[in-house]
Amino acid sequence: MKEFKFDVEAVRAQFPACQLKVAGEPIAYLDGPGGTQVPQRVLDAITGYLINDNANEGGNFGASHRTDEVENLAFAAAADFLGCSPQEVGFSNASTQHSYNFSVNIAKTMSPGDEVIITEIDHQCNSQPWRRLGELGFTVKTVRLDPETKQLDFDDYMSKLSDRTKVVAINWAANAIGTVTDVKRFIDAAHEVGAVTVVDAVHYAAHKPVDVKAIGTDVLLCSPYKCFGPHMGLAYMDEKLLASLSFNNAGAEDIAEGSRKFHMGTPQYELMCGMIEAVNFIADIGEKYADCFEDELQGLEGRRRNVVAGMMAIDEYEAPLAAKLRQALYEIPGVTVYGPAEGEERTPTVAFTMEGHTPEEVTEVFGARGINSWHGDFYAIETVAALGLADKGGLIRLGLAPYCTEYDIDRTIATIREIAGV
Ligand SMILES: Cc1ncc(COP(=O)(O)O)c(C=O)c1O
Repeated sequence: MKEFKFDVEAVRAQFPACQLKVAGEPIAYLDGPGGTQVPQRVLDAITGYLINDNANEGGNFGASHRTDEVENLAFAAAADFLGCSPQEVGFSNASTQHSYNFSVNIAKTMSPGDEVIITEIDHQCNSQPWRRLGELGFTVKTVRLDPETKQLDFDDYMSKLSDRTKVVAINWAANAIGTVTDVKRFIDAAHEVGAVTVVDAVHYAAHKPVDVKAIGTDVLLCSPYKCFGPHMGLAYMDEKLLASLSFNNAGAEDIAEGSRKFHMGTPQYELMCGMIEAVNFIADIGEKYADCFEDELQGLEGRRRNVVAGMMAIDEYEAPLAAKLRQALYEIPGVTVYGPAEGEERTPTVAFTMEGHTPEEVTEVFGARGINSWHGDFYAIETVAALGLADKGGLIRLGLAPYCTEYDIDRTIATIREIAGV
């Protein structure tokens, strides 16, 4: 296997935002879990569509024909990103919109007394739509987050799962603290009782390759704007579930096929063009580093192979930088890091608090120095409450992306040490 050496400068050269400075320093984009920057090719694809091909679909003229083609290319790119067929993917404004859309339409197949399971480690996107179903007479049960291990409590899950459970909505990677859940174990148990599974992969998909067929979920949510694309939602729905549901989409449900069934009105074609290029950007990284991951790529071909290799390369680059940041934080007095134990699978997202300084105060200092970061609960409200931080301003969150550098991390550590007075 070839030695892995990631060329971060080659990545940065593709991102116009990486050329920007604050106070004479290149901006450290550690705000990635809230949304990543975009490469030039994504921008060009969006403007190129709006200049040359801007139309609705299904017409008898060039731009409309090309728009039909854009939609097909977008389905193909999304399918390569998630490891499924192009008929099983669709788009929306955001994952939260997909989540509401799916919950309303899956609920039509349920009866009062049926149960839904959500978790304390979820973003509101994957819990709030289901919680609202409680108003319709369904029981909603919440799986506990173990505040010690920062993992979901599988025994608690099993105690709540029954043949009344119709939906299990679960998170793959926690956007607040980076915990990666063994979702396949939860999905297999849900399928034993005949429940539909919805996996929120919004945070996971930004750092690790997704294979929807390998985990066997019925539904999966992710958001291209977390993975170098434009602001939009991308969802997978298994063909059989898709065929069994009817969607509310202003009459088009009768004529729409495959995942077009869950498009609500005219989709964002220009953003689809950007999404295609975000997938191609990942695939190009993969092509460069595929030799380093030969074993893991066995049996994969074409762009799917390169996408998987690309995400593996991104993970391999980000993880040690995040580990360096965590190790430095562990040694600073008054800093508490929140996340799974070292050695557990995780994303390169580092959450912490600082004694004597609210998260908002810390991110204000970062912001003034061009270190972009987030503070608060990031809509992972139950996670932050389970950690006992709901009334303390939540967490400070720093997240890696493949355009972040070791210099960004060193500068951030120095700033934290300065705030801590050490
Ligand atoms: C884990 C997770 N799920 C869901 C969402 C919501 O995604 P969207 O903004 O596309 O609705 C986010 C956004 O931060 C997230 O991190």
